[in-house]
Amino acid sequence: MNSKPLTALPPELLTAADYERLAPQFMEATTLAWINGGSGEEVTLRDNLAAFARHRIMPRLLRDCGGGSTALSLLGRPFHHPLLLAPVAFQQLAHPDGELATAQAAAATDTGLVLSTLSSVTLEAVAAETTAEKWFQLYFQPDRNATADLVRRAEAAGYTALMVTLDTPVQPVSQRALRAGFAMPTGIRAANLAGYAAPPRRTLTTGDSLLFQGMMADAPGWKDLEWLLAFTRLPVLVKGVSHPDDAVRLQALGAAGLAVSNHGGRALDGMPAALDLLPAIRQAVGADYPLLLDGGIRSGRDAFIALALGANAVMVGRPQLHALAVAGALGVAHLMRLLREELELCMALAGCATVYSIGREVLWTQR
Ligand SMILES: Cc1cc2nc3c(=O)[nH]c(=O)nc-3n(C[C@H](O)[C@H](O)[C@H](O)COP(=O)(O)O)c2cc1C
Repeated sequence: MNSKPLTALPPELLTAADYERLAPQFMEATTLAWINGGSGEEVTLRDNLAAFARHRIMPRLLRDCGGGSTALSLLGRPFHHPLLLAPVAFQQLAHPDGELATAQAAAATDTGLVLSTLSSVTLEAVAAETTAEKWFQLYFQPDRNATADLVRRAEAAGYTALMVTLDTPVQPVSQRALRAGFAMPTGIRAANLAGYAAPPRRTLTTGDSLLFQGMMADAPGWKDLEWLLAFTRLPVLVKGVSHPDDAVRLQALGAAGLAVSNHGGRALDGMPAALDLLPAIRQAVGADYPLLLDGGIRSGRDAFIALALGANAVMVGRPQLHALAVAGALGVAHLMRLLREELELCMALAGCATVYSIGREVLWTQR
């Protein structure tokens, strides 16, 4: 790493992959290992990407796409396109402006933004920076009062939905980050949590498991989710859903939508690719229930494939950090524009004038 973020974009920056390729010039190798790494041996991380590569799209002829548009309605609110910025923690690792730059890019490109609980800038500061549609990603805190306070703050700051992440009650360490020697730099912190007391340390006795009696002791359960649904006036989406039975139970409980996600391969290593789990979940929850997908979206074509397999919208994780590191707000805005244009191109050539007309039949099935 030796470069300052770019203030003008070189013409060869054409895809998310180009940003990924340039990112090492703009970020410490240790930081990049933490961002790009997955849990365990990264089986799921690799599968997330490979899943998209298995699908092919069928072009269609002579269809009228002249009045086409990527617009959609999600949770009753208008979105210009179905590509959202996934909640990604500690963005000041990638750029000094961190989440503020991402929020500016979201506003400039009409992109929905999901802000992490673990943002390195406060949720209030991010809200003040953007006119984009914004949701707040919630991690349950060990202290119920802290969780309640986060929810109230998100409501007051104008976030229009909560997305509660449930797939990492314990976050497996990234071996890649450990081997690289990653440590959170001093000065980068979870700004939203600054005012809350640290949870009391648990005393473990001989025979106790650090995992079960330690880290999992404060993990949320169904009762916590029921509390949240009753407590907030915002719609609540659940992120990190993989099993159709969980999806059905969450839907019945009153979740406003789900995000099929394996945390970008940072949760249970060895679980299937998010894309591969999507069709069964769509089938379980029915045609009209809001479903998002993330994990491995690297192009508008990937987004198109996810929509064909049942997603209403997708979220982009790591690419936003690569773009942020390379060129700050400009980079993220450019990335989101590229992804949207790629999606539009797929739609036009596959004969889909709207995102609602992207169904399973747009994918090629070998006979
Ligand atoms: C560096 C990093 C930090 C993340 N932080 C959060 C977080 O704070 N909350 C959350 O729900 N998901 C978090 N995620 C998961 C993303 O929201 C998303 O599920 C994942 O990145 C999608 O996969 P992709 O990176 O292949 O696009 C994080 C992912 C990465 C790579």
